[in-house]
Amino acid sequence: MIAGVDYPVERIVLLTGAGVSAESGLSTFRDSGGLWENHDPMEIATPEAFARDPALVYRFYNARRNQLQQVAPNAAHCDIARLQAEFPGEVFLVTQNVDDLHERGGSPQVCHMHGELQRMLCLACRESFTARQDYDSSSRCPGCRAPGALRPDIVWFGEIPYQMDTIESQLRNCDLFIAVGTSGVVYPAAGFVRQARAAGAMTIEINREASEVSSFFQQQRCGCATSEVRSLVEELLAD
Ligand code: APR
Repeated sequence: MIAGVDYPVERIVLLTGAGVSAESGLSTFRDSGGLWENHDPMEIATPEAFARDPALVYRFYNARRNQLQQVAPNAAHCDIARLQAEFPGEVFLVTQNVDDLHERGGSPQVCHMHGELQRMLCLACRESFTARQDYDSSSRCPGCRAPGALRPDIVWFGEIPYQMDTIESQLRNCDLFIAVGTSGVVYPAAGFVRQARAAGAMTIEINREASEVSSFFQQQRCGCATSEVRSLVEELLAD
């Protein structure tokens, strides 16, 4: 039984951020040494930046896509997948991460609200496709063959995240909301805790340190994702 939860939990929404992949060796965005310490997000992660300097944006995402080959899922990814497989109720996993470590950790369902590193989007035919190689301004769409129309299928600043209708409906119906390894700086994800509470859900945050939205959670578990997710999953599966 989870302290503070005196009803049978049936529907969980679990939100992850860059902190869940940190122990796999992927940099977060805002920690010391994080990706946005060395790069100005406004020069990389906006449609305007891509229009201004596509070569820089292609290079940034090519490097990050290549880095994915060097890393593996960690215990937190695997324990979340175990919860999804073994919990008798529903576990809806929504991630801000664009890596594929949840899938490689065994998660049967992952909602990538900020897109995926291993997908490209064609601005000519609007198709999104699996992408594992490097891209540049001369790359052709494998579907419509248009040259120079491909962009990373990543939700950039100023764009609307994917699957918001589904996510909001899950938040309205959940009875437990868990956030793991996210700084609570970027909206709409940073607002999910308040939406879940408005729906009457219990809320638990796992983070190495206090986030921008820690005060909205009823329970904070301070520590590394690998150890804290393990304990929480064991508690939930023991119920
Ligand atoms: N265990 C738990 N938490 C950790 C760990 C760890 N091992 N390592 C880091 N953290 C926490 C940090 O304390 C921080 O609060 O993870 C959080 C990472 O925060 P950010 O770097 O801001 O990442 P995130 O919240 O996922 O960013 C949101 O911002 O620019 C974007 O689109 C990008 O999806 C990203 C969004």
